[in-house]
Amino acid sequence: MDRPPRQLKLSPATRAAQALRHIDETTGSIVPVIDLSTTYARDDQGDPRQSYIYARSGGPTVKMAEAVLADLDGGAASMVFASGMAAVVTMLETLNTGDHVVAPSVMYHGVINWLLRLKDKRGIEVTLFDQADETALQKAIRPNTVLVWIETPINPNWDIIDIAAAAKAAHAVGAKLVVDCTVSPPCTTNTLELGADFVFYSATKYLGGHSDITAGVLTCAVADDLWIELVEIRTLTGNVIAAFEAWLLIRGIRTLYIRYDKASSSAMKIAQHLETHPKIAKVMYPGLPSHPGHAVAKKQMTGGFSGMLSILTHTRETAHDIARFVQVFINATSLGGVESLIEHRIKVEGPNSIVPDTLIRLSIGIEDVNDLIADLDQALERAK
Ligand SMILES: Cc1ncc(COP(=O)(O)O)c(C=O)c1O
Repeated sequence: MDRPPRQLKLSPATRAAQALRHIDETTGSIVPVIDLSTTYARDDQGDPRQSYIYARSGGPTVKMAEAVLADLDGGAASMVFASGMAAVVTMLETLNTGDHVVAPSVMYHGVINWLLRLKDKRGIEVTLFDQADETALQKAIRPNTVLVWIETPINPNWDIIDIAAAAKAAHAVGAKLVVDCTVSPPCTTNTLELGADFVFYSATKYLGGHSDITAGVLTCAVADDLWIELVEIRTLTGNVIAAFEAWLLIRGIRTLYIRYDKASSSAMKIAQHLETHPKIAKVMYPGLPSHPGHAVAKKQMTGGFSGMLSILTHTRETAHDIARFVQVFINATSLGGVESLIEHRIKVEGPNSIVPDTLIRLSIGIEDVNDLIADLDQALERAK
C-alpha cells in the first residue's frame, strides 16, 4: 500500500514562484485569471456567494495578491493599494488630534510631507528624529506616542534602523511600529518577525519589479480593531489597486527572490568597484563594511543588501556629468525595476533638498553587471 505523501515545507522563494501553488480548480490553469468584475452576484438568500461584493473592497485578483503577500510576510492579513502613498495616507488617516507620531527626519519625502500636513490641519504632534543617531528614536518617544513610522534602508544614504530595537521602544509606550520596507522586501527582511506591527511597501518598486505598476502594501501582524479600521478606510476611499495591476503585481512577486538576489550581488560588486575610484568621494551601500549601518543590516537583511546605492563625487559638475554620460543606465527616478536607473538626486528633490548636490543615486537592475561597471567607468572617465 502506498504511504501518504510526506508534506514538504516549502520555502518562501518557492511559494512566491508558484504564487502559492496556484492551480485553477476547473481549468487547471497555473496562471491566475484577471477578474475585472466590479460587482458580484448574490445567492437566492441575497447573501454574497463567496466574500466578494463590490470591487471597491477588492475582487478575487486583488485578494489573491493579498494572500501571496500575507503569506510571504508571515502576517495575519495584507491589503494592496493603488499606490504606496495611498497606503501611507490610509494608515495616517487613523490618527486623532493630539496623537504623537515619531519618524526619521530623512525618509521618503511623501510620508514626511503628509505627516506635516496632518500636524497643520489636524493637530497631530510629530517628532522627526535623526536616523543616524542610534539613541534618537528612543529619546523621541513620549507617553502619547501612538505611532512610530520608520524606513530602512533609508533613501538616499541607505541609513539602517534596527527594527527589533524600534519595536521594543514603540511597544514600551503602547505605540504601533510601521516599517517602510520598500527597499528590503520579504525576500531579505522578516519585518513582522522582528517585532513590527505593520510592514509597508511601495510595491511600485521591488515587489512589482518591472516599472509598470504603481501599488502599495500594508501587512499586519495581528488583524485587530486598527486593521478593521484600515480596511474600512480603503473601502470607503476606493484606494484599492485595480485588478490588472494586482495581476501584474502577482506576476512580479513570482520573480522577486531572483531579481532581488541578482540586484544585490551586482550592487555589491559595483559598490566595491567604485569605492577606490579617484573621482568618487564616498560610496554609500549597507553591504559595505564601511557603511555605518552594516552590522545591523547584516542582522536584519539576510537575503541581500538591495540594489540601491549612492555615490558622492567631489564636485556637482562631476555628478551631473555622470548622470548624462551613461549609456546603459537610464537617467530616471524610482527604483527596484529590472532596468538600472541613475539620478542626480538634487535634480529630483529640488533646491530645498538637504541631499548634497554631489550625490548620485543608483538603482541596480538585473543586467549583466560587467556592462553596468563598464558604463560607469566610461561616464566617470568623460566626467569633469
Ligand atoms: C521608500 C518609499 N516609500 C514610499 C514611496 C511611495 O510609493 P508610491 O510612489 O508607490 O506611491 C516611495 C516611492 O518612491 C518610496 O521610495
